Order: sequence, then structure tokens, then C-alpha cells
Amino acid sequence: MISNKAQQNKAQQHSAEKYTKVAILLHWLIALLIFINISLAWTVDLLPDAYVRLNIDTHKSIGITVLGLVLLRILWRLGHPPPPLPSSISPLEKRAAHWGHISLYMLMITLPISGWMHDSAWKDAPTHPMQLFYLIPWPRIGLIEHIQPVFKETLHTYFGSLHEWLGIALYVFFILHILGTLKHRYVDQHSILYRILP
Ligand code: HEM
Repeated sequence: MISNKAQQNKAQQHSAEKYTKVAILLHWLIALLIFINISLAWTVDLLPDAYVRLNIDTHKSIGITVLGLVLLRILWRLGHPPPPLPSSISPLEKRAAHWGHISLYMLMITLPISGWMHDSAWKDAPTHPMQLFYLIPWPRIGLIEHIQPVFKETLHTYFGSLHEWLGIALYVFFILHILGTLKHRYVDQHSILYRILP
């Protein structure tokens, strides 16, 4: 009986250390969609011409979906703060984790927006209206779409490079994110991965 109660207490304490179900779902859904989107971007040059349009259109649709889900995740987080990190983690590491997460959020917002800006400056945008998953009409950014053509072409190149560089920054922060998790597991012998697992 006593051991049952102790077990119950432990389970309650464990769940108090976890993210909410919604935060966990959003975390893994966003991670999966970003993985698919990067795979689409990396494979576009290998595809036969007939599939290139489908690849890029799907990439844009998934990217806008990620933007929406990340904004939702931030709103959810404001009302449901993450569980505090274990006290065994040093203040310096806690600060590093905090800024690492802020950087990831900023990249997950600016990356899709830069793609959207790049696409809005595309000279063929007016003849290729954007639709999310070929179902829902989605606007270009009017301010960019209606710029004078020569300058718009320059912006198209510029926004394309910005999108590419933000992608590289996302890879860097993603690797740091994974290294941090591995360090807690194998160096500190204190896994914190369970907090975000279903
Ligand atoms: C999760 C969000 C997104 C991620 C992770 C992502 C990632 C990438 C990456 C890694 C590239 C390849 C860059 C290079 O090395 O040249 C790329 C290209 C591109 N992205 Fe995105 N992107 C996202 C969202 C978007 C959105 C929302 C749009 C437009 C609405 C967009 C439009 C494009 C376009 C047009 C290209 C160039 C494709 C080509 O012609 O080769 N992206 N993206």
C-alpha cells in the first residue's frame, strides 16, 4: 500500500516535470515538417522536371504550415510555461539552453518568412498563384509583389540568399540542440529527453 502511494507520488512528480501534451505534439509535428521541408529542398535538383513544381509547391505549403504551428506553439507556451530544468543543471547551462531555444524559435519564424519574401519577389508569381497543398489560396506579400520589376529581381536573389543562410543557421542550432540533449544523457547521466516525449 505504502509503496503504491510512493509510486503514485513519483508518477505525479514525473508528470509535473513534463511538457504538456499539446506542447509535445507541436514539438514533434514541427520537427517532422521541418525535416520533410529540408529533404524537399535538398532533393529538388535531383528530380525530373515534371516533379520540380510539385516539390517546390509542397515545400512552400509545408513552410507556411510550420510558420502557423510555431506561432501557435509560442502562444501555447505563454500560457503553459515549460517545466523548470532539474537543479543539477548549472545556471550557465540553463542560460545557454534558454538562448538556444530563443534562437531556434526566431529561426523557425524568420526562415519561412524569408522563403515567403523570396517567393513574393519571384517574377512569375502573378502567373503562378500560391495555394496551400493545392487547396487553400495563399497571398504573396503585396508590398514586395508590386515593386518595380528590375529591383524586384534583385530582391528575389537577395531574399533567396537570406533564406539559404537562415537554413544554415538552423542546422547549426539544431546540432547544438541535439548535442545538449546528448550531454545531459551521457555526461551528466541525467536524461531530460523524457520531458518532451509522449
Ligand atoms: C520550415 C520552413 C522552411 C524551411 C526549413 C526551408 C528550407 C529551405 C532550404 C534549406 C532551401 C534550400 C536553400 C539552398 O540551399 O538553396 C530552401 C529553398 C527554397 N525555399 Fe524554403 N524553407 C522553408 C519555408 C519556405 C517557405 C514558407 C517558402 C515560400 C512560401 C519557401 C520557398 C523556398 C523556395 C522558392 C526555395 C528555392 C527552391 C529552388 O528553386 O531550388 N521556403 N528552403
